[in-house]
Amino acid sequence: MCAQTIAGNGSPAVDGRPDENGGTGGQGFVVVANRLPVERLEAADGAVRWQRSPGGLVIALAPVMRQRGGAWVGWPGSAGEVLEPFDSDGMLLVGVALSAPEVAAFYQGFCNATLWPLYHDVIVPPEFHRTWWESYLAVNARFAAAVVGQAGAGASVWVHDYQLQLVPAMLRRSRPDLRIGFFNHIPFPGYELFAQLPWRRQIVEGLLGADLIGFQRQGDVSNFLRACRRAAKLPTRGAVIGVADREQAAGAGPPRSGRALARVGEARNVRAGTFPISIDAAELDALARRPDVRARAREIRSALGDPRVVLLGADRLDYTKGILHRLAAYGELLDSGQLTPSEAVLVQAAGPSRERVDQYMRLREEVEAVVGRINGNHATLSRPAVHYLHHSYPREEMAALYVAADVMLVTPLRDGMNLVAKEYVACHFDERGTLILSEFTGAADELGSALLVNPHDIEGVKEAIVRAVRISPREAQRRMRSMRKRIREHDVHRWATSFLDALATAPGPAEPPAGP
Ligand code: F6P
Repeated sequence: MCAQTIAGNGSPAVDGRPDENGGTGGQGFVVVANRLPVERLEAADGAVRWQRSPGGLVIALAPVMRQRGGAWVGWPGSAGEVLEPFDSDGMLLVGVALSAPEVAAFYQGFCNATLWPLYHDVIVPPEFHRTWWESYLAVNARFAAAVVGQAGAGASVWVHDYQLQLVPAMLRRSRPDLRIGFFNHIPFPGYELFAQLPWRRQIVEGLLGADLIGFQRQGDVSNFLRACRRAAKLPTRGAVIGVADREQAAGAGPPRSGRALARVGEARNVRAGTFPISIDAAELDALARRPDVRARAREIRSALGDPRVVLLGADRLDYTKGILHRLAAYGELLDSGQLTPSEAVLVQAAGPSRERVDQYMRLREEVEAVVGRINGNHATLSRPAVHYLHHSYPREEMAALYVAADVMLVTPLRDGMNLVAKEYVACHFDERGTLILSEFTGAADELGSALLVNPHDIEGVKEAIVRAVRISPREAQRRMRSMRKRIREHDVHRWATSFLDALATAPGPAEPPAGP
């Protein structure tokens, strides 16, 4: 995807007059996500431009927003940044400012040191701090207020991800006219883990402000339904939750810590469902076919010394991604001589992420120590065994890396979906290449023709690597062809359409299901 430049701080598209529901923007469709779909670029002369972020969500929603018109509410990405709403490519971008203490307590703290590890199987211990929760409440309320300011009467609002789980109920309280959808991009944990959260009931009730709650996998839906029954004592039938005819809120005033957030004045049913997110498979396929991308892929292989096999890992540098596990497997294969650096080279691209959060700093040190050890033992002057790249790359370069790789290693310990796996498949129009995929990813439900592994089983990962390195072209082709069919048919456009179609008909006021 080509980066797109957007004029900064342009025309506010709001007329400033509140409509009958208190909204000023009159938008029929509002997306709210932690981040705006643009990145700030600062030129040497200090001029600021906004460039479209390459994220999947933007790709999925841009056509919908162009068609319906709409606003995207999100954080511009740096502390203290205050933005006037501005138009960008058919959508109105509305910034929500976070102060530096809020970035520390809300974003680094409650989102990424409490919820993120808790929702990813407590791979590292989650931290629970009441001040972080207070900040989560305050920031969610600010996002909700920004949406209220934009949404016209009866608008559809689509809230995204774990950073904003209280927004649905906050919206419903002030704007019962809205149709509200929520999509959780990350896993929803089993109740035994979720129950650790001191604010588990408030989170469940926050989500239940929505008409439709989407998850990546069936297991996430089951976990959430159980949380509704256990933490909020609500009845469920199938994937429908009955929000009883009672006031769940502590009061109509501003939300306070330790209290329920949803205030529901009538019996409602809320629907939960699976909507596995995907990629723009056609767009990536076209990118991978571009002569410049193919030439770059050849250049990459040649720079690596034209080994017989190029193995690739490409992730955000996050402890959920199982980078250490794959390095352990690869290092042991070199130690035992089952692989030699002249035969196979590993490229590990690890994009910088959440660099101020302790566990991420620790992980970086560990990964770099392990890479150093493997290279110390197995590199030659002209050839490292692991090429470790602590950078994020533009889309074209990522596509060239995917094209260049014979084997892709995707080994998360837990991952809501993992779009890298799907991107690798989309780029292999030649039906070459083998995907090694953790069974703990959402993608594993759809890409059963990958070599599936349990990343904790280092012997199993080693066997899969050896198998992928020696796979017959025919078997690789058969596997790749079947995975390509799946992602072609279930692309990101289908994901967005199926969620929004379901939202349009999601259960509204109704009799709740029978009690538990
Ligand atoms: O859903 C996971 C997610 O929040 C994505 O939306 C995002 O691309 C990624 O993690 C990185 O998150 P952050 O906004 O913390 O950099």
